[in-house]
Amino acid sequence: MLRIVVMNPKGGCGKTTLSTNLASYFSNQGEITTLMDLDPQGSSVFWAHKRPEKAAEIQLVDAHNCPHNVTRSWAIQPPRNTDVLVLDTPARPDLISLNPLLKEASAILLPVLSNEFDLHAIANTVQQIRRSLPSQQNIALVFNRSPKTTLLKKQIDQLSEQLGLPVIATLRDTRNYIQAAAHGLGISEMNGAHYRRDKIDLIRIAQWCERRRPAKDSTGFRQISPDTIALASNA
Ligand SMILES: Nc1ncnc2c1ncn2[C@@H]1O[C@H](COP(=O)(O)OP(=O)(O)O)[C@@H](O)[C@H]1O
Ligand SMILES: [Mg+2]
Repeated sequence: MLRIVVMNPKGGCGKTTLSTNLASYFSNQGEITTLMDLDPQGSSVFWAHKRPEKAAEIQLVDAHNCPHNVTRSWAIQPPRNTDVLVLDTPARPDLISLNPLLKEASAILLPVLSNEFDLHAIANTVQQIRRSLPSQQNIALVFNRSPKTTLLKKQIDQLSEQLGLPVIATLRDTRNYIQAAAHGLGISEMNGAHYRRDKIDLIRIAQWCERRRPAKDSTGFRQISPDTIALASNA
């Protein structure tokens, strides 16, 4: 199972946008895709409920609204047949609680808004999470609402170098994302030439994650530990 965790303690930086777009992309690739919403605000759940009936299926796990007749730890497991699991996380999570989830991730994506404050804040976050992760091979930055100024572009390059993390895409600031989300769709499901550049960005991110998919036989199915989920979703 390819497990993608999308995280950044800052709100509004594009976690849900990236999570829903990746889920939509992989489901259209024929992968059995599960989108898990750990954010009590439930934006990914809201998006998924708007998906047209004909759209490629995305299995949904709403960590904050479990059916009453099953235990919480059971309800928040991804279905066993999942090929790709995308986890949308809340703002300001307790990083210590979130840590086991990060350790289990095949890919950790950090969407970062392209402004000075967010660039500064992400440096601290990266330092915190990498202290307890055995390998940094699976962390990447995705700059969002990319600036047109060369000064900020330079700052992004410097930050990437300083942190030793790849910038795998810079997403444009465009209403395209808002338009797709309004229909419960992702960029890759939209028609029209004006989505082309955004589709290419998304493919680049998905392919980076794809390269981190564990070999099937080596890991098999590992459940997410109930403690981890409970802690992460309480955050
Ligand atoms: N690249 C983008 N261009 C335009 N609007 C965007 C872009 N990325 C995100 N948004 C919008 O910004 C808002 C916050 O994004 P969201 O994905 O909900 O952030 P988070 O989940 O980190 O809080 C949403 O209204 C979303 O539609
Ligand atoms: Mg969100």
